[in-house]
Amino acid sequence: MQRTKILHLLASETPMPQVLAKGWVRTRRDAKDFSFIELNDGSCLRNIQVIASDTLPNYEDIKKITTGSAIEVTGKMVESQGQGQKFEIIAENLVLLGGAGEDFPLQKKRHSDEFLRSIAHLRPRSNKFGAAFRIRSEMAWAVHDFFHGRGFRYVHTPIITASDCEGAGEMFKVTTLNLETPPMKDGKVDFSQDFFGKAANLTVSGQLEGEMFALALGDIYTFGPTFRAENSNTRRHAAEFWMIEPEMAFCDLQGDMQLAEDFVRHLVRHALEHCAEDLALFNQFVNPGLLDTLKNIEGNEFVRLPYREAIEIMQNSGKKFEFPVFFGCDMQSEHEQFLTEEHFKRPVIVFDYPEQIKAFYMRMNEDGETVAAMDVLVPGIGELIGGSQREERMDRLTARMEKMGLNPDDYGWYLDSRRYGSVPHAGFGLGFERLLMLVTGIPNIRDVSPFPRVPGWAEF
Ligand code: 4AD
Ligand code: MG
Repeated sequence: MQRTKILHLLASETPMPQVLAKGWVRTRRDAKDFSFIELNDGSCLRNIQVIASDTLPNYEDIKKITTGSAIEVTGKMVESQGQGQKFEIIAENLVLLGGAGEDFPLQKKRHSDEFLRSIAHLRPRSNKFGAAFRIRSEMAWAVHDFFHGRGFRYVHTPIITASDCEGAGEMFKVTTLNLETPPMKDGKVDFSQDFFGKAANLTVSGQLEGEMFALALGDIYTFGPTFRAENSNTRRHAAEFWMIEPEMAFCDLQGDMQLAEDFVRHLVRHALEHCAEDLALFNQFVNPGLLDTLKNIEGNEFVRLPYREAIEIMQNSGKKFEFPVFFGCDMQSEHEQFLTEEHFKRPVIVFDYPEQIKAFYMRMNEDGETVAAMDVLVPGIGELIGGSQREERMDRLTARMEKMGLNPDDYGWYLDSRRYGSVPHAGFGLGFERLLMLVTGIPNIRDVSPFPRVPGWAEF
């Protein structure tokens, strides 16, 4: 007989005469001549109740089964007499697959997020994290669904790379050199003797490689892990995170902003439609008002606001900010929060940023001081997306690289795309964990990451 997932048992219209369920015991309690077991298999938030009567030949052993143990049950699924569940299983055969000692830590009491983060086997079995990671899986599917529906091709860009996309130098090195006695040349480590014959890093973004494919296949996207060695210990920065980066040939900033808005609204709608049960948990226990926020995002157009106007709004707001607001300032989270949470109370796309605070590949505007960049800011998170129209004009691109202290010779392969059939193109990057923070209302990026990597922490 095949195991049926508890999700499917509970979704059944009618009782079933014979079922096989397997899972982990959440609780067990004894009545006069039977024992109640709450069984969960991780397929959904809810448990199914199993009734084991004292007529079972191994009833004495069943009475010793503890929370956290794995069991399998064959039996009849019947309409439940009790409150709170539609069906329950009357066990005809119940086998202990793997016991758990009395010291199993996930007892009825609630544990802190920090505590659970430190115990690899336990965390995904808790209600909260089980729900968070079911939503994560569902949202990854929604990402592919969105792009596939629009004819975008999925490109796998490299994880090990020799180029720094953001030009910010926040990269983890990948090397097989002996770190105690590395080969030296002219007083510097000689990476020509390293594995790849040059210095290599973990990627901070697949964008530059993605552009090569957009300029060949049209509309593409990447979805993979990215790494940043920035030492910022905040609730929204991780050293390893997943990013989704679409790139569109023959597209300008307007088209880019439209795609970003459609994408975010699609993802939120998907969550509301397909993760209702898990979202209800977060709405009740983690972030009251979450469902209203999500419906608001899904149902309303985003604000589009030139950076210059965003600065004026903040300067005229009468609000005291810790970090000064002036044309040319990089927006801090307090500024982002003010715009999305206080002033507009919905997502805001800020565009046309001053060139000095944005990356080298962004397209220079006619005014000569701003670039065709855009950031999507959302309530509770701040920056969810960063993107731009790309500089497709060779002379402007190399001039800007030099101005920012980058050596165009290091990017020869990239610049070639501007030499041969260059066209306007645009794209963006969405941080997948930040999206999950938005969708679940979980305030710390560590708690939407299956195995978070942040400064000082790389357990498991
Ligand atoms: O704004 P960023 O740095 O943009 C890029 O990397 C571009 N190459 C994207 C592109 O145009 N193709 O990063 C994009 C997004 C941010 O908006 C944020 O959501 C997320 O990636 N992100 C991080 N998420 C978690 N931890 C970090 N340390 C992050 N850094 C960026
Ligand atoms: Mg950014």
